[in-house]
Amino acid sequence: MKKWAVIATWKMAENGVKITSRLLSEGTAGKEAVIDGVADVEDNPSFHSVGYSGRPNRDCRVFLDGGFMDGDTLHFGAVGAVEGFRSPVRIAKSLIDREANNFLAGPGAEEYAERNGFEKRDNLTEEMKELYQAEKEKRKKLSAYDGHDTVCFLTLDQAGSLCAAVSTSGLFMKDPGRLGDSPVCGSGFYADSEAGAAAATGMGEEIMKGCLSYAAVSMMKHGMSAMEAAQKAVSDLNDTLIRRNGHADPMSLICLGKDGSFGVGTNIEFTFVTADDEHEAVVMTAKPLGDRTVISVYEEH
Ligand code: GLY
Repeated sequence: MKKWAVIATWKMAENGVKITSRLLSEGTAGKEAVIDGVADVEDNPSFHSVGYSGRPNRDCRVFLDGGFMDGDTLHFGAVGAVEGFRSPVRIAKSLIDREANNFLAGPGAEEYAERNGFEKRDNLTEEMKELYQAEKEKRKKLSAYDGHDTVCFLTLDQAGSLCAAVSTSGLFMKDPGRLGDSPVCGSGFYADSEAGAAAATGMGEEIMKGCLSYAAVSMMKHGMSAMEAAQKAVSDLNDTLIRRNGHADPMSLICLGKDGSFGVGTNIEFTFVTADDEHEAVVMTAKPLGDRTVISVYEEH
């Protein structure tokens, strides 16, 4: 049993995991500690799938999605298709204690954020405008993966509480109004302090077909370890999609057990970061091998 633990998707989360780890080790509640980690990724212009300098949509505008879940109460908050704000994860978290209206999208979400004083920011950078112009003509197929996608953090704090927080700019060149899995509770994220937590990255349209995060937490609730649940949830959905449609687009899942053990399942190579009270932050690589996922310490190519 770990005193505290954190797992996050993609190498880009490394600094954020260090920030969240320090806060968890000092006894900060997970639902606070997790936000600073995700926000670190949202603010970094080097990462082009989240927050500032995120990838634009078909009209060259950056729309962001975020989600948050408190595993003690099962309260969640989420925002989708939000333009012009600094931190969708902070807006999502602020929605969790409302009796209703926990998931807001588009102009309604922006109006809420403005009314509640959330910081504004133009997230479209010159670099992403140039990428958009260069890719506009040649891009035929939308793809979630380009070395990174949604940033997802799962935490276990010293009080034994689990939580999940995610943030993304979604698919490059997506249609106006398109939402992926990330802000959808149960698909992009889920946390239950009595069972486990999970969060997904990859092609949202595929992930939503299996409500992937909830599927894994349900498996943990019925006795599977975080590793067993992550691998089975991805492998079941991957097999189903191949059987029904002939193919499955990329998807990856991180899990955190209520004991602080971590799990990863994926149908494509991807990177993730873990830390706990006994180990400093380490970046790992996960690769699919049949129904299993092989994990190794990340090495710079
Ligand atoms: N997984 C992010 C998205 O599909 O938008």
